[in-house]
Amino acid sequence: MLNNLDKIPQNIFAKMIEIVIGKEKITWYQTINWKQEIARFQSIDMVYPFYYTSVNYHGIEKGYLNPIAAITYDTITPFATLPSERWLRQCLLKTITLKPEKILDLGCGTGTTTIDLKKTFPEALVMGLDLSPYMLVIADKKSQKSKQEILWKQGLAEATEMPDFSFDLIIISLLFHEMPQATSQKVIQESLRLLKPQGQLIILDANQSRLRHLKWLTQLFREPYSATYAQGNVIQWLEKVGFLDIKAKAMGGIYQITSAYKPE
Ligand SMILES: C[S@@+](CC[C@H](N)C(=O)[O-])C[C@H]1O[C@@H](n2cnc3c(N)ncnc32)[C@H](O)[C@@H]1O
Repeated sequence: MLNNLDKIPQNIFAKMIEIVIGKEKITWYQTINWKQEIARFQSIDMVYPFYYTSVNYHGIEKGYLNPIAAITYDTITPFATLPSERWLRQCLLKTITLKPEKILDLGCGTGTTTIDLKKTFPEALVMGLDLSPYMLVIADKKSQKSKQEILWKQGLAEATEMPDFSFDLIIISLLFHEMPQATSQKVIQESLRLLKPQGQLIILDANQSRLRHLKWLTQLFREPYSATYAQGNVIQWLEKVGFLDIKAKAMGGIYQITSAYKPE
């Protein structure tokens, strides 16, 4: 793994990764048998979309299909979620207005919010879905460590292949700035399909109008789709497919939490 870390492109961001991740953590991750571990999550018939495989996320070659993305994610995220990642994720939890029995975290990554959800609603069935089996390996290790039973599933957020009306609550955290606008809109449509009537959808991501003025930030974090995401409008996307009671709240420097409900 240390050898792989040497392959990170030499830029400020990569240097930051090398400095902050620390030797101890790298040694721990070296013990993971990635081939064996990702096999537990990888669907054999998974076809990765072109938008996902054709770019490098955060300057990491092959993006989220590289174990380096998975091992560095939790270390780097606090720098991208100022003033405080914990505060931001807590604000997301406080936006939940119902007592959900079934919860889906779309694009769950390494599962930080998914685990928070299970801790907040211990009786609920909680599922984390992500396209990257590497991210799911780390998510699973974290949930085992914190003794939280969560279903981790590989899948496409825009085409989950799960039945209609499956969930009371769907969370989409830090996903939309990582995909083309048209795909984000498909994810919203899919969420509407998956929610039960009066179910709640909560989206945490950058505020698009603020992000338009922060090109340097998306360049620093090597975000391939942030500029296009910034040109869109999450509220309009939700209105377009029929979500109701849409409320958006600006959070911290550039973030926004948006809540909406499926009609009865
Ligand atoms: C920036 S991370 C956010 C992770 C997590 N939700 C959080 O709040 O930290 C984006 C995640 O979305 C996943 N992702 C990107 N496109 C996806 C798609 N079409 N379907 C499912 N997951 C996707 C990536 O693999 C990555 O783990």
